[in-house]
Amino acid sequence: MNIIWHNQSKQFHLYNEKISYIIGVNPVGGIGGIYFGRRIHDKEDMSYVVNRFSLPNVAVDPDTESYSMELNLQEYPAFGTTDFGTQAYEIELQNGSRVSSFVYRDHKIFSGKPSLAGLPATYANEQEAMTLEIVLEDEIAKMTLTLSYTIFADYPVITRHAVFHNEGVSRTKLIRALSACLDLPDQDYEWMQFSGAWARERIPETKKISAGSVSVESKRGTSSANQNPFVIVKRPHTDDFAGEAIGLSLVYSGNFIAKAEGDCFGRLRLLMGIHPDRFTWILNGGESFETPEAVIAMTSEGLNDLSQTFHELYNNHLVRGKWKNEPRPILINNWEATYMDFNEERILSIAKRAKEAGVELFVLDDGWFGERNDDYAGLGDWIENPQKLPQGMAGLARKLNALGMKFGFWIEPEMVNPDSNLYRRHPEWVLSVPGRKSSLGRHQLVLDFSREEVVDHIYGMLKKVIGGAPISYIKWDMNRSLTEVFSLAMDASEQGMVYHKHILGVYSLYERLIRDFPDILFESCSSGGNRYDAGMLYYAPQAWCSDNTDAIDRIRIQYGTSYGYPLSSIGAHVSAVPNLQTGRTVPIETRANVACFGTFGYELDLNKITEEEFEQVKEQIRFMKEYRGLLQFGTFYRLKSPFEGDQAAWIVVSKDKKIAIFGLYCLRSNVNALPGFLKLAGLDPDMAYVLDDAEYYGDELMNIGVTLTKLCQSGLTTGKDFVSYVKVLEAR
Ligand code: GLA
Repeated sequence: MNIIWHNQSKQFHLYNEKISYIIGVNPVGGIGGIYFGRRIHDKEDMSYVVNRFSLPNVAVDPDTESYSMELNLQEYPAFGTTDFGTQAYEIELQNGSRVSSFVYRDHKIFSGKPSLAGLPATYANEQEAMTLEIVLEDEIAKMTLTLSYTIFADYPVITRHAVFHNEGVSRTKLIRALSACLDLPDQDYEWMQFSGAWARERIPETKKISAGSVSVESKRGTSSANQNPFVIVKRPHTDDFAGEAIGLSLVYSGNFIAKAEGDCFGRLRLLMGIHPDRFTWILNGGESFETPEAVIAMTSEGLNDLSQTFHELYNNHLVRGKWKNEPRPILINNWEATYMDFNEERILSIAKRAKEAGVELFVLDDGWFGERNDDYAGLGDWIENPQKLPQGMAGLARKLNALGMKFGFWIEPEMVNPDSNLYRRHPEWVLSVPGRKSSLGRHQLVLDFSREEVVDHIYGMLKKVIGGAPISYIKWDMNRSLTEVFSLAMDASEQGMVYHKHILGVYSLYERLIRDFPDILFESCSSGGNRYDAGMLYYAPQAWCSDNTDAIDRIRIQYGTSYGYPLSSIGAHVSAVPNLQTGRTVPIETRANVACFGTFGYELDLNKITEEEFEQVKEQIRFMKEYRGLLQFGTFYRLKSPFEGDQAAWIVVSKDKKIAIFGLYCLRSNVNALPGFLKLAGLDPDMAYVLDDAEYYGDELMNIGVTLTKLCQSGLTTGKDFVSYVKVLEAR
């Protein structure tokens, strides 16, 4: 890994063993792109890549008389001079002009990676990464723009963000500030997005890229289930096993946009950052604005390789604290078993049976506080309800600890019900527009987290209840989109700052609670997977993946999630049948066979299953305890897509390749079909592996495959839907 500055040509070459990222000062003093792709040799001057060949109807720079931004790759372009594509940023000066021109002033290259103020970001020490900060200036605007690039030693990854600084005295308005723009010299790509809705999150969808644009976005105040701030652009022939692709992930949990824009000269522009709609940031003299971080990864070996890069990067350089690379406790959550209708006795009866099965952690879900007996009341009043918990959290925790179980609970700190003491006391603390109605979502309003005093108050309440008992885990929920986004604490000119300030408030509350309770495992949640993004992983190493706990739907949701996020982050539970969301009945074996490729837990009353099923549960937990390290942190490969056929499959392989676990699932049985083979991946071709008492070389298993005859006999292809098969392969 290195970052070289070529003084003569004014070019930078960031490289490691896998990739080269070359940029340079362009003929008009800005920063232009030169090359991004597989590692190439370093050269003093790559200016031949700069195009000076003009075309009709193209605007050119008046000094050079030939250089047009439109005909060259840009790194962080503005609209208004010679670039007509979507701009990375836009500034409005006091005279109303929106034209800007930032030119190179100086730069710094150093080892390591600084953190971002108040924002989540990947981190690395001086051996693991190098950073380049290029400072540009616009003399008329009296502003600087710092473009920041980090290259990691061991990953084909560049992270980027930008910082605007007002060096003058007059107030300027930043009306767009994306995190990164990446111009590519050709357009021969497809776009992959991960779209969905509540209970059907992150479903992969592929589209052809051509002249024009394709984009995904959220304007809900959260990253959302509808679109995810992770996208892939891939060559048309690229699949999970071969081919080039670039992945872009935004380390941010609020409104975002990700866009690919093909121009009419066959080039492609990729952009990612905070959504510019409803965004205006006021910069008074001396003030700065820092964008969130975008992570750009590339592969020339297929999408599994790309996903593995994100998995490893996020496990090793985004997740922090005690739970980094730590196998996760097997939990039981009472939500689907009781909803809000519980008391301590009921909880203890569920917990006791779970403990007997080997469960390690009890999670008390919604309904333990204030007047929270249904979803019309109580949010905001973070005090135990004495009817349900006569001795409070502390009393319940003591009883669970005495059983030998750890304890955690549910919170939804960003919300308030109109029917709550908090709202009655502070109606001005919600996001709302004076004189207008406030839309409700699940009968609740959104607290104005752009106001420090609101965050401080919630922090105080939560600190008390968390600190008052031995708490090992917190499920942090967020169950509605933001509407009527207006802060009563800000003046008219500042209202465009509310969305972003709100999410900064969420991050600051997370940061304070993590600082106070460093051993607690946080799981983020937002009506399931409505805020499943890299930003959240910086605070909460795992996320409730979806409220849809149906194992067959979950295969699709977890499969889609795996493109951008590690298995260690995928909250997955075994729930009751018929499933509460889909009505489908799936064998308990398959429910566990899906959930074990995630953080694993139960979300049902184990008193209500048969003795035979209970014995299976005990065995599932024993299996998970033995293999969770591998299942959550091993190298994961998608093998067979649930979107393409009647079976789905995946595998995790240990780093030394001596052990692997694969899962094969029948989504729909096939009559009169040959058993066929499942080709595995990631094994050592020369190692002999034991599977079902027989021995196979890795190359056999990867090129011929596992015969599915046994599965056929067990019904996988002959008449039983939803059967599955999870097998451990061990090198001899
Ligand atoms: C959301 C979550 C669920 C559960 C409920 C509680 O829907 O996704 O898992 O916690 O809230 O109200």
